[in-house]
Amino acid sequence: MINIKDIRKTYMKTSVETNVLRGVTFSVQRGEYVAIMGASGSGKSTLMNIIGCLDKPTNGQFELDNINVLQLDDDALSALRNKKFGFVFQQFFLLERTSSIDNVLLPLIYTDKYPADATQRARKLLDDVGLKDRTEYHANELSGGQQQRVAIARSLINDPDIILADEPTGNLDSENAAEIVEIFSRLHKEGRTIIVVTHDRTVAEHAQRILELKDGQLKG
Ligand SMILES: Nc1ncnc2c1ncn2[C@@H]1O[C@H](COP(=O)(O)OP(=O)(O)O)[C@@H](O)[C@H]1O
Ligand SMILES: [Mg+2]
Repeated sequence: MINIKDIRKTYMKTSVETNVLRGVTFSVQRGEYVAIMGASGSGKSTLMNIIGCLDKPTNGQFELDNINVLQLDDDALSALRNKKFGFVFQQFFLLERTSSIDNVLLPLIYTDKYPADATQRARKLLDDVGLKDRTEYHANELSGGQQQRVAIARSLINDPDIILADEPTGNLDSENAAEIVEIFSRLHKEGRTIIVVTHDRTVAEHAQRILELKDGQLKG
């Protein structure tokens, strides 16, 4: 489903060039659960942003379901991104003074057809992550673990094939981290493809495959 070949990414900032990715090659099959590990600054988020079509590499090839991603224009790229990916980030990125259910519904603003059963689906997704009794709570009235579970429900509202999670447990204690990991395992069992970036080996070990980003390349 994902085919990445010899991806390179160079950032240019105040005349300083940083070669973050130096030839990353890997594939992910539909339904796989993959973890990417690596030291801080090794380029994990850079790679995740490229996979999630949020950013483009400097060089390389990237096919997603046989679509040549790198030749798409920005509109086509956004459409592909919204259809294929659900995103979960370390910082949750919820709207603070907005209810859980409205946060979950938010990505639908960008779809051309608002589903008639949207609210029902959002309720079900919140129920599935154990937040049935928190649908009307604002994000700033929830614990970190609860906020991340809202974010996971939000990532699923467009029914994406692939979940991309960048340090999803990075702001959580071990108990809440375990709950998040459990949810990912369930989503994987239900057939979703999951790619999770983490520096926590106990989180990574739930994946089927662990890749290590080092010196700008993926090993493992
Ligand atoms: N937009 C950017 N402009 C310039 N440099 C960047 C940018 N984003 C990331 N970098 C640099 O790229 C390197 C890798 O960053 P990142 O992908 O966030 O690593 P990780 O997620 O593994 O901690 C860092 O040295 C960072 O400073
Ligand atoms: Mg990062």
